[in-house]
Amino acid sequence: EPGRRPAGIGQMDWPALRAAVAGCTACKLCSSRRNPVFGVGNEQARWMIVGEAPGEQEDRKGEPFVGPAGKLLDNMLAAIGLTRSEAPPERQVFIANVLKCRPPQNRNPQPEEIAQCEHYLKRQIELAQPRIILAMGRFAVQSLLQSQDAIGRLRGRVHRYRDIPVIVTYHPAYLLRNLPDKARSWEDLCLALDTFRQQG
Ligand code: URA
Repeated sequence: EPGRRPAGIGQMDWPALRAAVAGCTACKLCSSRRNPVFGVGNEQARWMIVGEAPGEQEDRKGEPFVGPAGKLLDNMLAAIGLTRSEAPPERQVFIANVLKCRPPQNRNPQPEEIAQCEHYLKRQIELAQPRIILAMGRFAVQSLLQSQDAIGRLRGRVHRYRDIPVIVTYHPAYLLRNLPDKARSWEDLCLALDTFRQQG
């Protein structure tokens, strides 16, 4: 049953934040999820990848992007030398979602769920202090950039969340169904890499 969001998320360290997500009952998704999905990767990673919400396989494993979209994501990241596994920080990603719990049948996140849950993502970003954020899909964009615009209108330039550069691109699950946009997402990855390198 839904309860309350834990107090003081904005002051939590990593272990406290992990524990808060693990026990969260702030919205109704807590009663249908198997496992909350905190995120994966090194906490010192210089890259942050933000997706939408866990799907079926993620909900089972408690890890983000382990299904077909995740395979594509890993390949996309590998193409520019990035990994969720051990690597030097500048090649490492931390992967997180706007929602930590799976919506039933993978329906879209609801505004109330986002409002409750995005505090965790924002604290993750504050703690990790990534040098760049890749926002994948419209829910990541809405949460970080407060924009309702379509991905196609926002991609191709550098946005900011607080002072951190944000590159907008299509969600990998969308790319699996819309192959022509893969070429565009490749351009977005190149822009992300250029932006990252320019920061020195
Ligand atoms: N899609 C997402 O947005 N996140 C996941 O973790 C898996 C699929």
